[in-house]
Amino acid sequence: MSLLPSSLVGCTESKSTSDTATTPASTTAPAPESVAAAPAGSFKVIGSVAQLDKEGKLASNKILVVRDPKDPNKVLAVNAVCTHKGCDVKWKSDKKQYVCPCHDAEFAADGAVIAGPAKTPLQRYASKIDKGQVLVSS
Ligand code: FES
Repeated sequence: MSLLPSSLVGCTESKSTSDTATTPASTTAPAPESVAAAPAGSFKVIGSVAQLDKEGKLASNKILVVRDPKDPNKVLAVNAVCTHKGCDVKWKSDKKQYVCPCHDAEFAADGAVIAGPAKTPLQRYASKIDKGQVLVSS
């Protein structure tokens, strides 16, 4: 005969980590910091829109950001590491695509494969423009 104490039922399970891609409430002082140091799911400033427009791209560690060729009001962020063998892709603004210097794979601004040998798209990150700053969530 075993009697389970009813006090064992209903403990725990009160943790809720709903850290989704919502905008943080406090974005008043956008200090440029490394996106790689950001906790997952939070947006970090990686540069200004003025800087993006001047240079044609923004780069922070292995993250590259360009304007969306299909909608210039938006930005697209990808991981610069080529999915073929790991070289860093370069943004070619004249072609509006990333090109890998190692084996010439080509990727669209959103990371989609245009030409091999890479078969897998570049990793994408959520990105947005807010108050003249470019933010990326990694
Ligand atoms: S490492 Fe990029 S195409 Fe081979």
